[in-house]
Amino acid sequence: MLKPTITEQINAQLNREFFSAYFYLSLSAAAESAGFKGAAAWFMAKHREENQHAMKLYRYLQDHDAAVVLGAIADPSGEYAGLLDMFEQTLQHERGVTEAINDLVDAALTARDHATHIFLHWFVTEQTEEEATVSDIIAQLKLVGERGEGLYLIDKELADVAATMNQALAAPVA
Ligand code: FEO
Repeated sequence: MLKPTITEQINAQLNREFFSAYFYLSLSAAAESAGFKGAAAWFMAKHREENQHAMKLYRYLQDHDAAVVLGAIADPSGEYAGLLDMFEQTLQHERGVTEAINDLVDAALTARDHATHIFLHWFVTEQTEEEATVSDIIAQLKLVGERGEGLYLIDKELADVAATMNQALAAPVA
């Protein structure tokens, strides 16, 4: 049995994860329009990954007989000044998600809700990995600047990473 405050905050996170999925879908569309097919595939894989994050929370609520409350998902559309800007906005977004997860961990500890606390560890680790991955991509993009050949190679590499991510996404959820 989850406390009402925890149920409410997990539902808020569920909405944030669906927003993340929507945000990445919008980035995928923008990257494809700009001719970056690899980045578009990477953002699309992230879109799928974020949907899985949302569904992890959904399953957790259901398994605890807590009400799932699905709210409206905010408009994710934004302006992107190029590939570097897309990834910089991604990092900014993920840092916000990390903050929200940390708040949720604090709430679980305050409520002495050990099950939720342990469950959230997966999200804490995931956020660390996500921020590190995006920071690495930003560093590479800064190195190549506006050089077309460099951008082409990074885009190609992102396509390979997306293929690996899609394979992992096809595996059964742990
Ligand atoms: Fe599931 Fe990166 O937020």
